[in-house]
Amino acid sequence: MTMRTVYVNGEYLPENEAKVSIFDRGFLMADGVYEVTSVLDGKLIDFEGHAVRLQRSLDELDMASPIAKDDLLEVHRELVRLNGVNEGMIYLQITRGAPADRDFAFPDPETTASTIVLFTQNKPGLADNPAAKKGMKVISIDDIRWGRRDIKTVQLLYPSMGKMMAKKAGVDDAWMVQDGFVTEGTSNNAYIVKGNKIITREASPDILKGITRTAVLRFAREAQMEVEERNFTIEEARGADEAFITSASTFVMPVVEIDGVALGDGTPGRVAPRLREIYLEESLKTAV
Ligand code: PDD
Repeated sequence: MTMRTVYVNGEYLPENEAKVSIFDRGFLMADGVYEVTSVLDGKLIDFEGHAVRLQRSLDELDMASPIAKDDLLEVHRELVRLNGVNEGMIYLQITRGAPADRDFAFPDPETTASTIVLFTQNKPGLADNPAAKKGMKVISIDDIRWGRRDIKTVQLLYPSMGKMMAKKAGVDDAWMVQDGFVTEGTSNNAYIVKGNKIITREASPDILKGITRTAVLRFAREAQMEVEERNFTIEEARGADEAFITSASTFVMPVVEIDGVALGDGTPGRVAPRLREIYLEESLKTAV
């Protein structure tokens, strides 16, 4: 990969010159939040949604924002420009900063400023991803994460372990199950389709309320598709007509196998590919 220009605490720097303290609470305590915004046609998809969720994550953790929303948009745009990103993602992370020493108690925000880091990930072919034609396979695993998954924190160890369990099982991802019901994928929201009905768990502290989820459910309703926000089990999912996931990096991606059981004929059905098409078309209209 060519050397990127990244953003750290107000400066644009070559990636190998960007540094964060070893006392940073993101590093020591996973005391940080993040957002991933996708870029299509060199434009940011749903920046507003990501900015609003970022502020909510910061508020829930009583963490100070080091940047105003307008400036944040400017930094996103500048990084896209400097790195010539046409398709890909922008990763943003804010942590509670680097106090003088390790301490469980939060540092005083007056003396310890939040750390902010942004970098781009160039992914040509993101919209035209061949994986969307084939569909993905998932396994189910126990959801043992903490109880505030609605806050987009950088505590991603269990999702990483879940991804490794999927890899080991020869599949693409894992759907997590709590008290018998599917919560979400390791880094995406989970859906099943029965007939024309789209079923997904309702937003609560049990899941991250995806920005893609909000948009896809709105587009689905606008296209007169029926949406039901309720819990579903893995057994119900295995018997569904279709399944899919949504996230900023995958948009809408069909799921064709769950725990070794093929859905329908084992190829993407009708609803998920159609939703992907609608999502890509509609979200580009408001991209900035
Ligand atoms: N993940 N659920 C979880 C646990 C996630 O980590 C994500 C996003 C989503 C989907 O949210 P959105 O539609 O706003 O991307 C749901 C990002 C992409 C990541 O960690 O890379």
